[in-house]
Amino acid sequence: MKVGNRQMRTIWLEPDGRGIGIIDQTALPHRFETRTLATLEEAVEAIATMRVRGAPLIGAAAAYGYALALAADPSDGSLASAYRALAAARPTAVNLRWALDQVLAAVRGLPPAVRAEVAYRRAGEIAEEDVAINRAIGGHGLSLLRGLAAEKPGRTLNILTHCNAGWLATVDWGTATAPIYLAHEEGIPVHVWVDETRPRNQGAALTAWELGQHGVPHTVIADNTGGHLMQRGEVDLVIVGTDRTTATGDVCNKIGTYLKALAARDNRVPFYVALPSPTIDFTLEDGVAEIPIEERHGDELALVSGRTADGGVASVRVVPDGSPVANYAFDVTPARLVTGLITERGVLRANRESLADAFPDRAAAAHAARALTPAAE
Ligand code: MRU
Repeated sequence: MKVGNRQMRTIWLEPDGRGIGIIDQTALPHRFETRTLATLEEAVEAIATMRVRGAPLIGAAAAYGYALALAADPSDGSLASAYRALAAARPTAVNLRWALDQVLAAVRGLPPAVRAEVAYRRAGEIAEEDVAINRAIGGHGLSLLRGLAAEKPGRTLNILTHCNAGWLATVDWGTATAPIYLAHEEGIPVHVWVDETRPRNQGAALTAWELGQHGVPHTVIADNTGGHLMQRGEVDLVIVGTDRTTATGDVCNKIGTYLKALAARDNRVPFYVALPSPTIDFTLEDGVAEIPIEERHGDELALVSGRTADGGVASVRVVPDGSPVANYAFDVTPARLVTGLITERGVLRANRESLADAFPDRAAAAHAARALTPAAE
C-alpha cells in the first residue's frame, strides 16, 4: 500500500538476500522508520516489542526470523531452539506458530547445508500468500459493502473498526481494511470510525495513519464511543480482525473487541470479522477457555506516549505511582455474536460446519503439523 506516493510492504527481503527489512511500527505515526533485522535475536525482539505486529505480519516475520537463525546455524539444535524462541515472542496470534510449522515442515529432513535457502524461500512464499489472501478477503468484503451501500443510496457507509487490522498488520492490504480500500477505490462513499485502542493506541496511531495515507475518510474515537454511535444509527457495520479463531468460530482479537460485539448485537449492527485462514486454530473448540491471552507490561497502560509541542516524542505517566495495573492484550468474542467471517474463500457463518467445509485442508494440516513440532517431541 502507499506511504506518501511510494508503494510499500511491511516486510521484505533486503538486496543482500539475507537481512529482513521492516517498517518500525513503534515509531509511527510521528516518524516513518525502516530497519533491517540481521539475526534471530533481532527478529524475536522486533516481534516481542511490536516493531512488527498484527497476526499475519507476526507470522511472516517469524518465518523470516527462522530463516535468519538457520543462515547462522542450520543444525538440528538451532532448528529446535530458534523455533522455541520465536514461538515464545508473542503467545496469542496463532499465525506465528503456523508460519514456524510451515518452515519447519519445509526444512526438516534436509541436509543442514540447504536449510537456510529453503527456509528463506518458504518465508517468501508465506509473505506472498498473505498478500493474495488479503486481496481475496478484500474482494469478498467488497461484495458485502456494495450490498450495504445499495441499501442506502447516496449516503456514506459508516464502518467501525478496532485496533489495526490494516495493511500494517499484514504484509499488504490488511484484513479488515482490504474491503474498505477496495470500496474507496471503487467510489463507494465510506467513512471509518477508528477506535483509539488503548493501551497501545494501534487505532489512533496506525489505522488512522494508514487510512490517511490513502485518503480514506475516517474519525478517531475514544474506545468507549462505539456503543453511543451505534445507538444513534451512525454505524452501519463493524469489521475487525482476529489473532486466533477456533474451529467453532470464536474469535480472539485486541482487548475491547468483545464489548464492541455486545454493543453491535444490542443495536442490530452487523459484526464481521476478517481473517486469513492461517488465523484459524482448528485444534481449539472454546475460545474463552482455551486461547492464551497475552498479558503485557503494565507500563504500556500506565504511560502514554505522544508528540510534544516542540516535535519530540515523550512518555507521560497517567496512573498514580503505586497503583497496580493489569494489561490484558486480547479478549474473545464468542461465535454467537459474529455475523460473518470474511475469509479468502468467502463470507462464512461463524460455526464449525462452515469453517470445516471451507478449509478442510487447513483443518487436517493443523493437526498434522502440531504433532510434529519440537515442543511436542
Ligand atoms: O497487539 P497487536 O497490535 O499485534 O494486535 C493486533 C490485532 O489485534 C489485530 O486486530 C489482529 O492481529 C488482526 S490483524 C489483521
